[in-house]
Amino acid sequence: MKIIILEDEKQVGIKAADMVEEVIRNNPKALIGLATGSSPIPTYKELIQRKNSGLDFSSITTVNLDEYIGLGGDHPQSYRYFMNDNLFSGLALELKNTHVPRGDGENPENDAMEYEKFLKNIGKRDIQILGIGVNGHIAFNEPEDPLSLVTHVVNLTEDTIKSNSRFFESMDEVPKRAITMGMGQIFNAKKIILIATGKNKAQVVKEFISPDITTNNPSSFLKLHDDVTVICDKEAGKLIAGDI
Ligand code: GLP
Repeated sequence: MKIIILEDEKQVGIKAADMVEEVIRNNPKALIGLATGSSPIPTYKELIQRKNSGLDFSSITTVNLDEYIGLGGDHPQSYRYFMNDNLFSGLALELKNTHVPRGDGENPENDAMEYEKFLKNIGKRDIQILGIGVNGHIAFNEPEDPLSLVTHVVNLTEDTIKSNSRFFESMDEVPKRAITMGMGQIFNAKKIILIATGKNKAQVVKEFISPDITTNNPSSFLKLHDDVTVICDKEAGKLIAGDI
């Protein structure tokens, strides 16, 4: 595992975009795994700038990690809407080449199974971008015993609902369930970039780099993958700066 601590979130975005650009230059038809949340936004801005300066994204395919149950793609807090708004429209991607689990179906368990089948079919991602929750969740794999390998329906923890309520009018509006790739699918990527920015991530980043792996901190399992780069800003990296 490689850990890089940079000055601020803009620098983090540039570094992560460099890694994505390298993948696309090597394979214009790359399969790219994407995340939502505030952490990847500077990376997405940077990628849009690179598209505007000539980098060709027209042949890539994207897959997203997760979606809230109960929100359709036209809901401003759905992850489909977030991706369209923060990245896909700026890159002028054809929406048929972008994939996000369906959140507003009648049978979420079935939609999760269908997404898993689709992911198995489409194969290994060339690169996967990840954020990290304050409780160590990745995608929506919450601290839990046991963790699941495949795409599944999950009940969000109080911590996550509270933390994600900043994007909603009130806590009551935050969906209580989501569809998420499981740990096995997240690992199905040649390269993984974990982005952590801001002081509220400092503690979880410290726990993440400890020698342990534990279902209490799903991100800790990333240490088992052989190509993970953690990119932090100074704030998120402040408790580990002396250890690396
Ligand atoms: C959500 C997403 C995660 C994301 C996390 C952190 O819960 N499901 O994929 O990593 O939020 O979000 P942020 O980057 O806004 O802190």
